Amino acid sequence: MAESFIIDKTLSKSEQYYRALEQLKLVVEGESDKIANLSNIMACLKYGFGFFWVGVYLVQENELVLGPFQGPLACTRIRKGRGVCGSAWEQNKSLLVPNVDEFSGHIACSSESKSEVVIPIRNTEGVVVGVLDVDSDQLDDFDSSDLIGLEKIVSLIETIVL
Ligand code: SME
Repeated sequence: MAESFIIDKTLSKSEQYYRALEQLKLVVEGESDKIANLSNIMACLKYGFGFFWVGVYLVQENELVLGPFQGPLACTRIRKGRGVCGSAWEQNKSLLVPNVDEFSGHIACSSESKSEVVIPIRNTEGVVVGVLDVDSDQLDDFDSSDLIGLEKIVSLIETIVL
């Protein structure tokens, strides 16, 4: 397992995500426990990138149920089609929301959350088995390079969640 996780903020965002992914592979290498690996990935993302909130919700009996996360208290269950997470699940696609107040049905777990990215986690058949939710306390804090970078990190998460 990697001893530390460092993101060089002087690099381009796509390079930051590329290097993050390389380090995260080392973090989870040799450990088979899903909760342990997801927990460490969330910690690395939160403290490496400085996100306000980062976590996974996993599908259980037709609901998204809160999994490992870093950040303030969060709602525990989200129904399909509800909020950004439930919409990303229903539509089976990544959603980038520059202003959560303008997203109809947004679930405000924290009033400090202003923008977010939600990426579906899929099994090998392409069925959504969870989502990665990344929130910022700044408006319009994510762009397409965050989306592409986080989708790469989700491809690692998919190998863990199997
Ligand atoms: N933002 C999410 C709810 C989860 S919390 O923000 C952690 C949504 O609207 O789906």
